[in-house]
Amino acid sequence: MKLRSKEWFARKGKDGFIYRAWMKNQGIPADMFEGKPVIGICNTWSELTPCNAHLRDLAEAVKKGVLEAGGFPLEFPVMSLGETLMKPTAMLFRNLASMDVEESIRANPIDGVILLCGCDKTTPSLVMGACSVDLPTIVVSGGAMLTGKYQGKDIGTSDLWRFADESKKGLLTEEEMNLAEAGMCRSIGHCAVMGTASSMASMVEALGLTLPNNAAIPAADSNRKVLARLSGRRIVQMIKDDIKISQILKRESFENAIKVNAAIGGSTNFAIHLMAIAGRIGVELKLEDFDHYSKNIPLVANLQPSGQYFMEDLYYAGGIPAVMNSIQEFLNKDALTVNGKTINENSANQKSLNENVISSVNTPFNKQSGIVVLKGNLCENGAVIKPSAATAKLMKHKGKAVVFEDIEDYKKKIDSDDLDVDENSVLVLKNVGPKGYPGMPEVGNMGIPKKLLEKGVTDMVRISDGRMSGTGFGTVILHVSPESAVGGLLAVVQNGDLIELDVDARQLNLLVEAAELEKRKQNLKLDLNKYTRGYVKLYVDHVEQAHLGADLDFLKGGSGSEVLRDSH
Ligand code: FES
Repeated sequence: MKLRSKEWFARKGKDGFIYRAWMKNQGIPADMFEGKPVIGICNTWSELTPCNAHLRDLAEAVKKGVLEAGGFPLEFPVMSLGETLMKPTAMLFRNLASMDVEESIRANPIDGVILLCGCDKTTPSLVMGACSVDLPTIVVSGGAMLTGKYQGKDIGTSDLWRFADESKKGLLTEEEMNLAEAGMCRSIGHCAVMGTASSMASMVEALGLTLPNNAAIPAADSNRKVLARLSGRRIVQMIKDDIKISQILKRESFENAIKVNAAIGGSTNFAIHLMAIAGRIGVELKLEDFDHYSKNIPLVANLQPSGQYFMEDLYYAGGIPAVMNSIQEFLNKDALTVNGKTINENSANQKSLNENVISSVNTPFNKQSGIVVLKGNLCENGAVIKPSAATAKLMKHKGKAVVFEDIEDYKKKIDSDDLDVDENSVLVLKNVGPKGYPGMPEVGNMGIPKKLLEKGVTDMVRISDGRMSGTGFGTVILHVSPESAVGGLLAVVQNGDLIELDVDARQLNLLVEAAELEKRKQNLKLDLNKYTRGYVKLYVDHVEQAHLGADLDFLKGGSGSEVLRDSH
């Protein structure tokens, strides 16, 4: 067994002395340094990331598994990205966290890694970093929270948007809001709907990077610790068998992940993160692939925000293996997974245990699913919409633009009585893209203007170069590329312009004369030099557009596991 950790721990003389002696201050016996595979447990635990606050505990289960299999576990922290607290948006730091992961793994005596993640960005940032090093790798997600409860009803993060609208309409008192707040997050774990965190946990399972059932076991279920422990045992064997992450992440696994995301009504953020991961591992993936590979996949999982149920229900119904079983005719069956078996072997015997939660392709919850990629003059490089979370009658729509120049402008005007808006209007939000905001926040599902909410309007066409929370819903067009801050046509939309959306035809167009558009473009003033130092400058200078995955251009690909040069 060729172990890179031997370059540290098997050294003779002064260097070996230093590498081992300081580690021994943790009470580690000498035999642990004698050729045992070193497993790095890359942990995004943080009290500032509540969805991941239990991961120290889960790491202990991984360690037991590693020790049982004869490995040497060493846990290390990396930057943790908490969705709810980080400002301006956790997405600004996804690429930074991925650099931390990549460099921490490479610089240390690690032979294989377990990635512990949960909240939205923690999963892609860890996988991106691990891809750029390319060691044997298993992901263990933290698991979702138990289903929330409010006045006898099941609730989850998607209800937050409904509560906010109801309170705006005066239908929910402060006391009722407090009750909902207390019942929403009643256990450890991440958001309990098929939001971005659950979509990411499902993505890594569909990619083959986890043991079966990683996505759906609730965080509070003891089976989550069993999965972590078994992953600890398995990673040791993967090192012995020399199965690197690049042997799992083939083009076929990416296609499978796109199909599974469609079948479960996964988040639109899935597209941007999967492309960034593909870029790191050297698999060619285009935005159009998300439309192509998901368009025949029906929605077979009935989960909020596209459906009714929660992650806990998904687990009891058979989890992602049952979803894969249900859509098996569409999958690349021979794609390899980290347990050494194929996707098909892992899911062949797992039928749905509850047809209300996981159905068959013949009786889907919605024939429309997945991520539709729009093109047109308003989004030359593409934009995305999630039909399963949208309103069917708005999928073909023509309306007058109501423009917000940035998020501050939106906040100032959206509930104003003077806003010139009706239910046929198209809300347009500029300057919330990767460079413009910067960091591409989840503000694309703009709230419905108060005066329309009071009239009973529940959905409108909304367009932006930003993203939407995976828990959000509505006829929301996101990730417009090129973004307004770099001079995409979105930048020149004016109040009253006609915009036409045709989801069936995959078109999104601004219906303004070409000569007029040209004139507006000439008058456009772009300013990307506002940020003069630090990570934000690095980000704005190098972040790619949404249709490419919004990674930093110089992070594409990998540098392998070789250290830059030896120390001492
Ligand atoms: Fe962490 Fe939703 S806020 S997963």
